[in-house]
Amino acid sequence: MPLPTEDQITEKLRAVIDPELRRSIVELGMVRSIDIKESGRVEVIVSLTTAGCPIRSHFEQAVAQNVSQLEGVTEVGVGFDVLSDEEKGNLQQTLGRNKLPQGALAKVKNVICVSSGKGGVGKSTMTANLAAALTAEGHPAGALDCDVYGYSIPRMLGVNRKPEVNGERKILPLDSPSGVKVMSIGFFVEDNSAVVWRGPMLHKAIQQFLEDVAWEELEYLLLDLPPGTGDVSMTLAQLLPQAKFVVVTTPQPAAQSVAKRGAEMAKKFDLEILGVIENMSGFTTPDGERFTIFGEGGGQLLSDELDVPLLGKVPLSEPLREHADNGSPLVIDEPDAPASQAIRQAARGIVAATPQELPVLQSTPSPAEAPPVSGTPLPVVQ
Ligand SMILES: Nc1ncnc2c1ncn2[C@@H]1O[C@H](COP(=O)(O)OP(=O)(O)OP(=O)(O)O)[C@@H](O)[C@H]1O
Ligand SMILES: [Mg+2]
Repeated sequence: MPLPTEDQITEKLRAVIDPELRRSIVELGMVRSIDIKESGRVEVIVSLTTAGCPIRSHFEQAVAQNVSQLEGVTEVGVGFDVLSDEEKGNLQQTLGRNKLPQGALAKVKNVICVSSGKGGVGKSTMTANLAAALTAEGHPAGALDCDVYGYSIPRMLGVNRKPEVNGERKILPLDSPSGVKVMSIGFFVEDNSAVVWRGPMLHKAIQQFLEDVAWEELEYLLLDLPPGTGDVSMTLAQLLPQAKFVVVTTPQPAAQSVAKRGAEMAKKFDLEILGVIENMSGFTTPDGERFTIFGEGGGQLLSDELDVPLLGKVPLSEPLREHADNGSPLVIDEPDAPASQAIRQAARGIVAATPQELPVLQSTPSPAEAPPVSGTPLPVVQ
């Protein structure tokens, strides 16, 4: 069996994230060496910031787990050393450089990634309609199309202009008729060039893009992720440690295991999963007869498994598709249609699950004066 190359191993190591710095050990320059033995044994030395680093076992497991996925690897050995002072300085610089600057997403209260391990389950349709529903219910929202391979958000929200750049060389999101602010990575991808974007190049491009868009005050920014857990999704999860995930699945129990991959990625990066939306959940004829074309129960199964709420079950609906195709979300045009109601309910579930600003407490009694507390303690306001 052929041995893996150092490059292949490095690619695998990109998935090993320092849980404190929230970046890959490759990007952080913490991979000291990779040694590939004839027998298929791979030895990786990881450099830590301090000798007593408490997350050693996390790295040990994550390195072994990811590298052993490669064909030809028979065994993985993980060793540790400590970064020199100079290397620590470089690390600091890397951290400073890679941080998304204040300007970019500072005005966005909640970043929500709409994801699924699977294609064609309705991620883009849900993103567009959820953003429209949130905006309509008084929560200004934006939709960012991150699908470099097949972007659809601008069309679904009725935007057919290209964005402009302001005097500060920032890209301005586009206004859509429903009030949702729209941006797409696709605007900046030359035809066909997306297919050659991989690994570090893609990471850089996405980072640059996130930095360069001037979002106004938004309560929610919904990211339409490409299907699966490829480079784009990984990069976003890494660059946006504050992001929360909504996982879309179809109802057949078989789909739910694939959809779970999206959730697993979120977990890997320690990102919160807000809930599951089951889409294409049965079809009801005008006479009220219901057909479960794509089976039943997948959404509930997945949400039970992830221990998160099932935010909604959106039925198969021709008008939902038609309105998406015509650039005018169904939740706006026909808010009482069954599919719209389900999506609006999911939007309310998102609102309920995301922190609202708490009223500032006027005065807090000091512990000495405070009456004895019983029952549930109040949340700590930071
Ligand atoms: N509930 C629904 N009822 C009817 N049609 C739907 C429904 N949800 C989505 N569709 C249609 O299914 C197709 C796929 O949906 P969509 O593009 O939103 O999926 P996606 O998960 O974003 O796909 P991709 O993985 O390719 O990005 C579209 O034509 C869309 O209009
Ligand atoms: Mg899509």
